[in-house]
Amino acid sequence: MAHYLVTGGCGFIGSHLADRLIGDGHRVTILDDMSTGRLENKPLLAKLVVGDVADPDAVHQAIQGVDGVFHLAAVASVQRSRELWAETHRTNLSGTVTVFEAARSARNGTPVPVVYASSAAVYGDNTATPLREDAATRPLSAYGVDKLGCELHANVAWAIHGVPTTGFRFFNVYGPRQDPSSPYSGVISIFARRVAQGEDVTIFGDGEQVRDFVFVGDVVRFLVKAMERRPQGAEVFNLCTGRPTSLLMLLEVLQELCASRVRRLHQPARAGDIRVSIGDPARLRATFGEGCRFGLLQGLSATLTGEMPR
Ligand SMILES: NC(=O)c1ccc[n+]([C@@H]2O[C@H](COP(=O)([O-])OP(=O)(O)OC[C@H]3O[C@@H](n4cnc5c(N)ncnc54)[C@H](O)[C@@H]3O)[C@@H](O)[C@H]2O)c1
Repeated sequence: MAHYLVTGGCGFIGSHLADRLIGDGHRVTILDDMSTGRLENKPLLAKLVVGDVADPDAVHQAIQGVDGVFHLAAVASVQRSRELWAETHRTNLSGTVTVFEAARSARNGTPVPVVYASSAAVYGDNTATPLREDAATRPLSAYGVDKLGCELHANVAWAIHGVPTTGFRFFNVYGPRQDPSSPYSGVISIFARRVAQGEDVTIFGDGEQVRDFVFVGDVVRFLVKAMERRPQGAEVFNLCTGRPTSLLMLLEVLQELCASRVRRLHQPARAGDIRVSIGDPARLRATFGEGCRFGLLQGLSATLTGEMPR
């Protein structure tokens, strides 16, 4: 059994990953500053180091002796990166470089692999559909630029320092534990709670904007598969389904699942809101031998009940 460091392991995606790793019998250390992470998300058997991922001492302490790192800590919000540009940059890019640097000598002075979260935000206003990994990256937000920077530093980590990495460009991830009370949270968690409570739903624009929604159970499976495959080089994959869902379709399915109808309130589209964001999962499938397994119905039911499907 292995020992893994999960940065951001008290957050939405990181805590599901930590659960899975503990369930598989591994040892898990979490490094999290608890800015959006929650203590109740932490698996009982995981060790928690409360610290900042951009603080070299904290990372150095947490990483010693591990067999690999899952790096998920970030300020996971485009909007926050607009409001707190320099501060989010420190976490989202400097934090990643700090992790890559510490990974150089984590196990008896030798490098360990890092599997890390990038984002579909690196594509920015590229309207190609579906987006392949070799599509031009034109990030519009500081968040997207920093995630692209992580990928570029991953090349340096491998080419100069021998740290193997796998990066995943997550599309819109959803599932249990995503915080609906945060205005920065994903649209599904917000819609799901409002529909379940019979409250009005606000849509920015006409609701025909299309997204590629990925269930968190699929994300966790690919993170683990990437580590098991022993990363070589500095590879990057879309983590997406390739299936388009408009916000109106999403609302329809949620209303059916909850057997409730809610009022739709439309507000003007937000500046910079991308109309279509669909990934091409071909590279993911070809490399890992499978694509995402969870369909929208199954994923949304799990989100509403809070129960993770097996
Ligand atoms: N949720 C999505 O749809 C989505 C899409 C694309 C990429 N991502 C990426 O996936 C990763 C996980 O996102 P999430 O949705 O679980 O978000 P989250 O906010 O639930 O989790 C992020 C975790 O990182 C921690 N953290 C933040 N700043 C930190 C710092 N300076 N030091 C240590 N810990 C810190 C937070 O406390 C939290 O526990 C992030 O890297 C995010 O950018 C998420």
